[in-house]
Amino acid sequence: MGYPVSHSRSPVIHRLFAAQTGQHIRYEALQVPPEKLESAIAQFRRTGGKGLNITVPHKTAAVAVADNLTQRAEVAGAVNTLIFDGDTARGDNTDGIGLIRDLVQNLGVSLEGANILILGAGGATRGIVQPLLESRVSSVMIANRTLGRAEELVEHFSSYGPVYACGFDDVPPTVHYNLILNATSAGLTGDAPPYPARAVTPTTFCYDLSYGLKATPFAEWASTQGAARSVMGWGMLVEQAAESFYLWRGVRPDTEPVLKQLTINA
Ligand code: ATR
Repeated sequence: MGYPVSHSRSPVIHRLFAAQTGQHIRYEALQVPPEKLESAIAQFRRTGGKGLNITVPHKTAAVAVADNLTQRAEVAGAVNTLIFDGDTARGDNTDGIGLIRDLVQNLGVSLEGANILILGAGGATRGIVQPLLESRVSSVMIANRTLGRAEELVEHFSSYGPVYACGFDDVPPTVHYNLILNATSAGLTGDAPPYPARAVTPTTFCYDLSYGLKATPFAEWASTQGAARSVMGWGMLVEQAAESFYLWRGVRPDTEPVLKQLTINA
């Protein structure tokens, strides 16, 4: 469920997972406006629905729908996966683990000891800070257009590890960032905000949580700045889906062929 949702690749991804693992599922994109979220979920359950993915802009609202939350959903304050078990709705968040799996397993990025710069301090950032901090990184800097929102996240996550806040203009010039993650929603509107160019070096890995048929504005910007690599978030999309599929079906699909097929068709 999302709003809008017609662009979603999740139905294709889950169809491929189901075919690969021999699971019989039906997975469809449901467009649900914010004021209808609760009633749409109730209706879905009444008609036998077993699980849901929740996407923009409903991830925070879905927290209230769940009867219980996993620790990672609770910390993120956002739910992207609901699992219905009898009368109980469990809320989970697979975005963070999806990002970490793509970075570490698919792309070979080493997080241990890394300095990470996250651009943006919205819902997408909330889902990834704790798993990054738990990957024994050296530091996480959250840079945001609105400094106050980044500071709020630092307050929320500081007990999990070294996390700091700054504005786009005050990214510390002395730190070498191994990894820059774009978690702003700016690309969705085609905007290219004044990203901190001096943070990109020839050894910086740049990753956009957004993805598109052609390079996102951030991915293009990062390439132009001479980043070591500039990658879009197709892998995170597939990995978070695989984790949700596992939660619903108890079977872990092989993500590699699905990711290949998806990006070939992109
Ligand atoms: P999401 O759930 O996708 O993260 P969100 O919670 O609305 O959405 O957060 C959007 C993020 O993108 C915020 O960090 C926002 O910056 P502000 O907090 O200053 O609003 C950032 N963002 C969106 N459009 C932007 C733009 N044109 N320039 C810079 N930052 C932008």
